[in-house]
Amino acid sequence: MGRPPLTSPSPAREPGGRRSGAQGTIAGVIDPIPRHLAGDLTGGDPAPDDFALAARSTPLARFVLDAIDAAGGRITFERFMALALGHPEHGYYSRAGLAWGRDGDYETSPEVHPIFGYLWARQVEQCWERLGRPDRFALVEPGAGSGAFAVAILTWLRARAPACFAATRPVILDGHPRRVAEQRAALAAAGFAAEHALIDEWLSQPQRVTGVIISNEYFDALPVHLVERRGDASAEWVEWYVARAADHVDGLAFVAGPPSTPQIAAHFARLGLLPGDGARTEVGLAAIEAMRRLAAKLERGYLVTIDYGYAARDLYAPWRREGTLMAFRRHSPQPDPLAAPGRTDLTAHVDLTALAAAAGEGWHTAPPVTQAEALTVLGLPEALRAAAAGAAADALRFVTDRRAVAVLTDPAGLGRIRVLVMAKDAPLDGLRCLRAIEATYASDGAARGDERPEM
Ligand SMILES: C[S@@+](CC[C@H](N)C(=O)[O-])C[C@H]1O[C@@H](n2cnc3c(N)ncnc32)[C@H](O)[C@@H]1O
Repeated sequence: MGRPPLTSPSPAREPGGRRSGAQGTIAGVIDPIPRHLAGDLTGGDPAPDDFALAARSTPLARFVLDAIDAAGGRITFERFMALALGHPEHGYYSRAGLAWGRDGDYETSPEVHPIFGYLWARQVEQCWERLGRPDRFALVEPGAGSGAFAVAILTWLRARAPACFAATRPVILDGHPRRVAEQRAALAAAGFAAEHALIDEWLSQPQRVTGVIISNEYFDALPVHLVERRGDASAEWVEWYVARAADHVDGLAFVAGPPSTPQIAAHFARLGLLPGDGARTEVGLAAIEAMRRLAAKLERGYLVTIDYGYAARDLYAPWRREGTLMAFRRHSPQPDPLAAPGRTDLTAHVDLTALAAAAGEGWHTAPPVTQAEALTVLGLPEALRAAAAGAAADALRFVTDRRAVAVLTDPAGLGRIRVLVMAKDAPLDGLRCLRAIEATYASDGAARGDERPEM
């Protein structure tokens, strides 16, 4: 169909996205080739681009092409993203040797500094109090990455809230066996006993728990449908599929077709809004289903979702023309989400309105706040002040701590991540992470209350 395929998710438009630092357009990322060298390289007849061949030839590419052939010529982008991130051997998140943190492909908040987990541990402790200090308190983390977030939360609870720690039953979940094994090893190395499971298996167990389900950048890693609405009034929906490229034997290309499922139109009917005419956007049906199942596992408690996302009216605002899908490799935004499948991280912002609705009956939702706001009221300024007191003795540590504060609250990066808090049979009012900054800090900047968190 007429529209050009999605070659550029416009990295500059959505800064941040699993990276704590660098932003920029592709033009800013690729240095121009010096003129004299370019002349040498580009003279003569045009030759096929063998470098492009190498870029496409990931071990996963073959499986994607097989899936396309088996499906009769095209697969949904959702299916492509599920393979690209989760193919059992070659998926981005499932493969051996996935590196986390600054040395890896991206740096999430728990990888920036343990203070992130320590601050959220304070919130977890308050949730436990609010639930009446249950003897068995489930602390569930889906999509636990390297395990760093869970380790930091548990470390703080063990040190600063021993009664809560004694009641806590950690449940660490992931979609991929290699990640589950690494998470088990990380928690064991830090001296923590936990239940480790594949998320599907845990969700399929009938028993429910009381406690907190807390996740960081889990939902934005779940596959999305790519769609486009056309026409003025209601909706003609077009879905973007992935097919073999016509111009390259092993290449992939976007092709448009009718929606693969009526759930796409139903999704927007439920929301009561439509994206702009001709705007490309994402529909995260997998994230909605994951939230529905997670919420159903909680008898009583809190769901804390920390993720790149917007309320539906912002995510699908008429001015947003190209959605939020982004591709990353080595901290750099990539222009083509179909390139190097399995070596490229793919992510799309979550629809916070749909996630909240997915939790279902009995759940209450607070208006989302930003990560910068939440960490501030959880005590980041006092933590930094306490760290500053020791700066003379250990300047390097203080510099590291100060960098962490800036990175975690950067309004153009991790600081703009949203925090969605939901509660079932438990009070939302007065939750620490939802307090207004003005109500938390006196005009002289001093915190109200007696807490002095440490870095
Ligand atoms: C962006 S990482 C975030 C990791 C960690 N929470 C952090 O903040 O560093 C996404 C996590 O979700 C897991 N994941 C991705 N797709 C998944 C899926 N379909 N089902 C379950 N887990 C998945 C990945 O293995 C990874 O642990």
